[in-house]
Amino acid sequence: MEVVILAAGKGTRMFSKKPKVLHTIAGTPLIGHVLESALMLAAQKIHIVVGYGSDQIYTYFKENRPQQNVIWSVQDEQLGTGHAVQQACPNIDHDATNNQVLILYGDVPLIRPETLASLLSDADDKTVSLLTLITTKNRGLGRILRNDSDEVIAIIEEKDATDAQKKITEVNSGIMAVPASLLEPFLRRIENKNKQSEYYLTDIIELAVADGYKINALTIDDEIEVQGINDKTQLALLERHYQMETVDRLAEEGVTLRDPRRVDVRGELICGEDVVIDANVLFEGSVTLGNNVIIGPNVSIKDSTIGPDTKILSGTIIENSKVGSETIIGPYARLRPGTILKNKVKVGNFVETKKVVIGEGSKASHLAYIGDAEIGENCNIGAGTIFCNYDGATKHKTILGDNVFIGSNSTLVAPVTLSDNAFVAAGSTVTVEVPEGSLAVSRVKQRNISGWKRPKKPSGG
Ligand code: UD1
Ligand code: CA
Repeated sequence: MEVVILAAGKGTRMFSKKPKVLHTIAGTPLIGHVLESALMLAAQKIHIVVGYGSDQIYTYFKENRPQQNVIWSVQDEQLGTGHAVQQACPNIDHDATNNQVLILYGDVPLIRPETLASLLSDADDKTVSLLTLITTKNRGLGRILRNDSDEVIAIIEEKDATDAQKKITEVNSGIMAVPASLLEPFLRRIENKNKQSEYYLTDIIELAVADGYKINALTIDDEIEVQGINDKTQLALLERHYQMETVDRLAEEGVTLRDPRRVDVRGELICGEDVVIDANVLFEGSVTLGNNVIIGPNVSIKDSTIGPDTKILSGTIIENSKVGSETIIGPYARLRPGTILKNKVKVGNFVETKKVVIGEGSKASHLAYIGDAEIGENCNIGAGTIFCNYDGATKHKTILGDNVFIGSNSTLVAPVTLSDNAFVAAGSTVTVEVPEGSLAVSRVKQRNISGWKRPKKPSGG
């Protein structure tokens, strides 16, 4: 079996510079969803027909699916779905016995591999297999024509249909499997004498019937599975549907979701036991939450691991970070890439971290910037502490041993080291090493001027 995915269309009604198949559902382009379903079947080859915006599609594959073997065909002008499949024909093995060509549409993203497998299960070299849908929402879709013996005899596009035909509720999903030996001869016979002057793939049904081949229609009634995306409304519909399926699955696995409609998973979320997720939470990429993790409202987490018994409080943003157990983060904390927090750490409100390791039991409870640093255990980073990691040209590192205390409103000018038990007085600027157990004070000494007269506003002005 070989798979051909059609992805050459612009998607005019998306009103976008991006080719339609690169618009995303749950963070993955439509073409990626179709590909994933195709990969679940044992396809010898996967062909993708591209045209509009092909460079963007190649770039997506290069960056996100570098290992994926794809045979590319180019359809320079989008002359119809039949013409599109024709572009892949030279690369298809027509002679192999009972080689089936499964045609998928790049804009029908949620097709289930199980459905495709059952469509293919009865396929042989005398049969064209067709996936159809019964729906009252048949607008814009090709209608299935059957004869008195209920056999499929043709597909008629809505634009070419009579009023009576338009009432037919069985429609073409777009998905079919055609014996490789028949495909090219059929496609060569298709004409573009229709309202859209396009070469319709769907016309091969009529040709196959005329030649005495059997049409094996598998009919389903799940509209979502074969819903094509032609505009942003349909994209939004499938996005929500997909999200609901994901959160339903999480709930079935025992995750408590305060409001399943207000959680988005764009990627893979793995949860331990007794995880609680509040409203308006976004997960992207690959995220793992340990047992008893609590995620507060309005949190975003991307490509990160959160250890057991940790609480992520409201408004926190975490990216490419690894957080230990029994840790508290937020509210309103921002962990940027390369943040590693060991266990029992506290990172409080308005604290930003980047490329930093914070040792067990250490705390930065309020208002701090901690970048390019290694911090030992049980340290205390006071409010308003800034790790000055950047000299305008290069980033430098700050190293803190264990039990270091940084008083509020201090600046640590990297590169600098503060050894175990170092203590920095509030308001200090630390530029040189602080040895073990020492106090660093670097601030202007206070002087008091007695009898100070406050400035007054000039009178009569
Ligand atoms: C198509 C079917 C219709 C079916 C519907 C299901 C035809 C003629 N019609 O209509 O019966 O009910 O899908 O969603 O097949 N494409 C190309 N090159 C082209 C034209 C299209 O690669 O020249 C690709 C598009 O990128 C898209 C897919 O084929 O991924 C479907 O094309 P689209 O124009 O959306 O077809 P529909 O009008 O929806
Ligand atoms: Ca379509």
